[in-house]
Amino acid sequence: MIADRHAGKTAVVTGAASGIGRGIARRLGEEGATVVVADVRRSPKQADRYGPADDRPTDVLLSEETAGAGHYVETDVSDPDAAAALVEATVERTGRLDVLVNNAGIHVPGDSQALSIEEWREVRGVNLDGAFYCAKYAIPHLREAAGSIVNVASVNAVEGGAGPPYASAKGGMVNLTRDLAVELGGAGVRVNAVCPGFVETPIQDYLTDEEIDEQLEHTLLPRGGLPEDVGDAVVFLASDEAEFITGEALFVDGGWTAHSI
Ligand code: NAI
Repeated sequence: MIADRHAGKTAVVTGAASGIGRGIARRLGEEGATVVVADVRRSPKQADRYGPADDRPTDVLLSEETAGAGHYVETDVSDPDAAAALVEATVERTGRLDVLVNNAGIHVPGDSQALSIEEWREVRGVNLDGAFYCAKYAIPHLREAAGSIVNVASVNAVEGGAGPPYASAKGGMVNLTRDLAVELGGAGVRVNAVCPGFVETPIQDYLTDEEIDEQLEHTLLPRGGLPEDVGDAVVFLASDEAEFITGEALFVDGGWTAHSI
């Protein structure tokens, strides 16, 4: 296994206190990156299902266990001023910014009639607006570093059923990826997305056992996804091995979309 693909780089991972973001941060740290954990909380979310095996904050775990180092910057990505402050704090503390992973996300279940306007704004505000705000303020530094962005979308980017704000935010995330790839290609800054299927994280806590079984049935491979599965894809897309890949959406879904799309 290659283990220094991100040595000397600084990566910002939003929503990295828990779940997929924590898995991405761990894999980037194992590849030598200094990782800034940008989250509304520092400690991982506790959950009935798929809670963390260890409750150390991600930044502590990274500094103690990986070749890289961890920093925590309290950040609500849905607040543009907080996104700007995150980028400023990152460059102040580490001197650079090479990789931005827009992972922070929330899901509020419900259809068009059940969800309030406030919930629509909240879900899109974190999942889509937050990704744009972080990208907007990170781009000048990414241009300097010839760095890259990886956006965490979802299989729900290309299929319905997750509720209007989540589905539209994730679809928007994939096209935001393409649009920024067009804007930044000439500067050598690459922008890609990953689209996870069912991954075992605290975000799944609202599902019943039957609903979990349905998600697993939808996954072709004989297990649910793990945060590090998505982390491996992000490590690749942000590395030199992917230097001719931009504007792409990579499905990390155990085959989910092979039979549902
Ligand atoms: P999670 O709930 O385990 O972790 C999400 C993290 O984001 C938490 O640490 C939370 O504190 C943080 N966060 C929430 N709002 C924030 C805000 N305003 N600013 C900064 N951080 C914030 O969820 P999970 O599953 O790890 O999700 C990560 C991403 O992966 C999300 O974008 C989600 O939509 C996406 N995803 C997850 C799938 C799954 O099956 N778990 C499938 C497809 C996509």
